[in-house]
Amino acid sequence: MQESGYLNLEHLTDVTATANGFAGRLAHEHFRVDVITENLLRMKISRGGTFDENPSFALVVDPLTHNGFQSQDRAFNLEIGADSVRLTTASLVLTVNTDKFGFDLRRIDGSRVFASGECGYRILNNDWRISRGAARGDAIYGLGEKTGKQNRRGRDFHLWNTDVLNPNAAGEFTKAHPETHPRADSTSTEFDPYYVSIPFFYQQDEVTGAVGGSFIDNGYRGFYNFTAADSYEIAFGGGQYTEYLFGGPDFASILADYTALTGRAQLPPIWALGYHQCRWHDYSQQDVLDLAKRHRELDLPLDTLWLDIDYMDGYRVFTWNHDRFPDVPAMLRQLDEQGIRVITIIDPGVKFDPGYEVFDAGLEREVFCLTEGGDIYIGQVWPGNTAFPDFAKPETRKWWGELNAQHVASGIAGIWNDMNEPATGGISEKPMRFGAGAYSHEKYHNQYALLMAMGTAEGLLAARPELRTFILSRAGSPGIQRYAANWLGDNMSRWDHLWLQIPMATGLSLSGQSFVGADIGGFAENSNPELFARWMQAGLLTPFARNHNQTNQLDQYAFAWGQEVLDIAREAIKLRYRLMPYLYSAFVENSLTGAPIQRPLVYQYQHDAEVWEVDDQYLLGGDLLVAPILEAGKTSRSVYLPAGEWVDWHSGDSIESRGERITVEAPLTRIPIFARAGAAIALWSEVPVSTAGYYPEEIAVLVALPIRDGSHTSVLVEDDGLTFEALAEKKLTTQFTVTRSGGTVALRGVSQGLGFKDFNRKRLRIRLIGLGDLALQERVVENTGEDFEAVFNL
Ligand code: GLC
Repeated sequence: MQESGYLNLEHLTDVTATANGFAGRLAHEHFRVDVITENLLRMKISRGGTFDENPSFALVVDPLTHNGFQSQDRAFNLEIGADSVRLTTASLVLTVNTDKFGFDLRRIDGSRVFASGECGYRILNNDWRISRGAARGDAIYGLGEKTGKQNRRGRDFHLWNTDVLNPNAAGEFTKAHPETHPRADSTSTEFDPYYVSIPFFYQQDEVTGAVGGSFIDNGYRGFYNFTAADSYEIAFGGGQYTEYLFGGPDFASILADYTALTGRAQLPPIWALGYHQCRWHDYSQQDVLDLAKRHRELDLPLDTLWLDIDYMDGYRVFTWNHDRFPDVPAMLRQLDEQGIRVITIIDPGVKFDPGYEVFDAGLEREVFCLTEGGDIYIGQVWPGNTAFPDFAKPETRKWWGELNAQHVASGIAGIWNDMNEPATGGISEKPMRFGAGAYSHEKYHNQYALLMAMGTAEGLLAARPELRTFILSRAGSPGIQRYAANWLGDNMSRWDHLWLQIPMATGLSLSGQSFVGADIGGFAENSNPELFARWMQAGLLTPFARNHNQTNQLDQYAFAWGQEVLDIAREAIKLRYRLMPYLYSAFVENSLTGAPIQRPLVYQYQHDAEVWEVDDQYLLGGDLLVAPILEAGKTSRSVYLPAGEWVDWHSGDSIESRGERITVEAPLTRIPIFARAGAAIALWSEVPVSTAGYYPEEIAVLVALPIRDGSHTSVLVEDDGLTFEALAEKKLTTQFTVTRSGGTVALRGVSQGLGFKDFNRKRLRIRLIGLGDLALQERVVENTGEDFEAVFNL
């Protein structure tokens, strides 16, 4: 982005009250502030004198009328003074300087949310910039899929969806640095930008620990520079300045409001939470069946097998290579009998190939992206020359939906969207325009994957209206969580990438996209037995758990590394299946409130400054702390336990922490996990080979013994795991309350909901763990969803 020559728009004049806030003139533009709620404001500056009221596809609601925010209170008071305007709500005070345009946003208690410098808005042609103040010790989190540590302070970031391992796409960014700089290497854990761009971040005050949130609703290329000691800068390469400012002061309320704006994740089918096996490899139908058989023979639970680009006929999307796959429906049937579903990859690039049905149809319907001159834009992906669907047009999304609907009709369970940055191989993406050539590439580049997912989801829903959909996407932008999960793209089979997946996933989950996971074992380069074992242990405790590997690498299956690693891998997969009721309940919570599934510690312990930099461990759901081994040869590690009581998952040891580090043993067979004392963690007592049709008679509940008196609640949600009926209350929500009072611990369960057709639960097996004992006491409660109380006397 250009550095000099910017115009400062610095005098705010003609300020008047509006129904929702106030407006004024800023040189030749208009400035407007809208009160969305007492704790959420929106600021806009027009371009060319007019406001774009729908700057991107991020939002799902009209914020001014939506009632799904944390507060419904939109009342405000306005004081228009000689050199400032002050807007006060029940929670916030916004002061805007009219002389040197700038603002200060505080909570009603005086604590700072955001403060701009003077002359807070500068423009030059398409670009605009703003700057903000920051105290030296303020932390920054979020911004979606970013590398490096979770605290973004001290670094700068581009928002431009990038095919990271393609030198043509990444070259602009690698070459911007001297060769010795980590970002000169796109495989480094510092490389930027990545596949997903989300202009939403949190600023945490160094003194109060309070967080404020900023979401800029703009799909153009963005740049966030947090390198300066006392300020930071935000720039976009086009579009309008439209910012949502969230008062916080906690992460949960900001994330709830952000996901009310941009949409909550749809509750996924439960099988999408199972173990996924994928590999870029030219399988035949028989190979796929053999692979399924092998997993079953070796007692490796598995819910899906994935087909990468080689299943197609010459990489033509929506086709099959019938020589290698002579009878797809039969294959799908045989896999289905073993509880295994199939997911296929669909890239956006359509082979430029007159005579190929999809290409011809695209031409005829005029749904491909054009160049400025009106030609079909051509990029280069797997099939060679490729045309790109113009997903900015609704008719293209509809067409794409129809193609997907036909494609899955044979029984394909879900769709994997790759190369949707969009990746154009060795050809520049810039000439690709949208809206039949009307719009620049920049306008929709970052939103391309979101638009593609919208079309895909439409198709899946049309094909099977009663079933929840599953789409996995590589790229994304705000709102992608409504339609798709994201994997973390092409990672490396390296220890540093095993670490990277933690801050990358928690950064995404703080940014509204919780259904994420890295390629287990690492994608590029060869894994090794120890790395693979550690990656299985860690990866199976992330929201999306898929083993995936690049073509022409060593086999990376769970059984590829010898007996010891096979046993470790099996144990890791089984632990995930045991935890399924707990994990699924975390997904339900995420779909209802936006609360992350894989949480950075700072989300839950924001006032403990110690955790601001802790990004080598995380919380899975609200009650489990996971601390994977991330280095070769290590069999112990330091774990930070936030203040409170914890129970070691493996030994049952009770630990009272004042917020301290402990050293835990972690031989190759073990990943350190701690349960929060007072938690009631629901498990499957037995491990099925797949989630398919599994509605068990027994649910186990592990109660982590609280040492001190008090109460703690946890929630279990059970439903059919497949249909939308759960949304119509065809589910059972059980609130567990664990209460310690002197020598007794009571677990109370209160259930709500209509239940569901396949509900089969007959009993709860409740086990109290703690004080070094994994079965301190056990109670079996006959239970088909009634309220109950189980009391343990110590
Ligand atoms: C891209 C994807 C990878 C996939 C490969 C072939 O590199 O990120 O997951 O295996 O393309 O389709």
